[in-house]
Amino acid sequence: MASSRRSLQCLLSRVCRETRRNYGALPEGTTPSSSQQLISLEYEFSAHNYHPVPIVFSQAKGSSIWDPEGNKYLDFLSAYSAVNQGHCHPKIMKALQDQAEKLTLSSRAFYNDRFPIFAEHLTSMFGYDMVLPMNTGAEGVETALKLARKWGYEKKNIPKDEAIIVSCCGCFHGRTLAVISMSCDNEATRGFGPLLPGHLKVDFGDEVTLEKIFKERGDQIAGFLFEPIQGEAGVIIPPDGYLKAVRQLCSKYNVLMIADEIQTGLARTGKMLACDWEQVRPDVVILGKALGGGVIPVSAVLADKDVMLCIQPGEHGSTFGGNPLASAVAIASLDVIKDEGLAERSANLGKELMDQLLKVQQQFPDYIKEVRGRGLFNAVEFNSKTLFPVSAYDICLKLKERGILAKPTHDTIVRLTPPLSISLDELREGSKALHEVLEHDLPNMRKAKPEKASPPGSTICDRCGRNLYASCD
Ligand SMILES: Cc1ncc(COP(=O)(O)O)c(C=O)c1O
Repeated sequence: MASSRRSLQCLLSRVCRETRRNYGALPEGTTPSSSQQLISLEYEFSAHNYHPVPIVFSQAKGSSIWDPEGNKYLDFLSAYSAVNQGHCHPKIMKALQDQAEKLTLSSRAFYNDRFPIFAEHLTSMFGYDMVLPMNTGAEGVETALKLARKWGYEKKNIPKDEAIIVSCCGCFHGRTLAVISMSCDNEATRGFGPLLPGHLKVDFGDEVTLEKIFKERGDQIAGFLFEPIQGEAGVIIPPDGYLKAVRQLCSKYNVLMIADEIQTGLARTGKMLACDWEQVRPDVVILGKALGGGVIPVSAVLADKDVMLCIQPGEHGSTFGGNPLASAVAIASLDVIKDEGLAERSANLGKELMDQLLKVQQQFPDYIKEVRGRGLFNAVEFNSKTLFPVSAYDICLKLKERGILAKPTHDTIVRLTPPLSISLDELREGSKALHEVLEHDLPNMRKAKPEKASPPGSTICDRCGRNLYASCD
């Protein structure tokens, strides 16, 4: 990770220097518009809290992206699953435009005529009594944490200020302070302490230790927060039966089972929720990303009344949560997922993609350690020894040159999560590009990289000493 970041910084500084030369030469009043100029401008004026693959999105439709120069690419990230329905879906865009002309914001100091419809729609679709609407995913997670604590004090009689949330090592839930306090991601937590107290960690997939923790501290534990499949960690799938075991343990020890389905939900894994793979019903479900159809941020926490009504007026909220524009977009986004059978589509195309990726793995068994996924939620994990000194980021740069936009995760994993509306032919272009990169580019890249490049950074968690991102199966 450290090495890929250094090479990115070098690249950006170079682009920046060159662009500044060009940019400086622009006639006064001209808006910078080339990819190079825009990357440079962002680097100069925006915080460096991301290290993007250097491609500028200028236009998008379905699975296709165009940069300002008119080059076309295929999206194999879907904005971290926020664009499950495909970019600029006409029905979602129409809902956005129609609502934008009528009413965009009421705040919840008043009622509006869209949120109640959205609330009824969403809760009946997922079979929960109530919803609490927010905007970003991290806010949804924060909401669930507060809800669990409140429920813990009111319904479970946890002594004042002693509530504990248990979360999984390696699960990702967002970037706010409370949320990173639940995290084991070194990059997310280093330098941001002190973190919030009141939580315990357990390995993802380890039901035995989970029960041990519940047994020892059960009286204080309000909730167990987890991703049903770890996304940011590199599409890590828990062992079969894990979700069922979590459900049983949460019921046995009176702990709220809180599923963060922000990335895995809304048809991404081939089911409406990833928990549906084991027919498990969590007590609290957090949704986000594709709920806003790739248009505006919409997140939501679902729970039944005995949990949700622990929160009273004035105790939690958001100025924009449940706004009419977001509600109209979310209704349309849900309708598209249902009407276009995107869950089934993801399941079927996912099998196809998996077959293609396994073939690539068979051809390059030394390079590819594992391909894994559920539906169109997939990852290719490279063998760090044979990949080194090349990183997953370098692979993504080469994929980009071949028209495929994918996201590296850590040093050795490339995630492949295209919009669920992608066609079979487009899907094949992704695995074909990967094949070509491994066949033609990777050997040269390995030769070209300096021999003394530092090996991949440690994946040992600062906080709990666990080896992060180790596959569970
Ligand atoms: C599982 C999960 N939870 C929460 C979040 C945070 O969502 P947001 O970036 O909208 O705050 C993410 C973002 O990637 C996520 O993958």
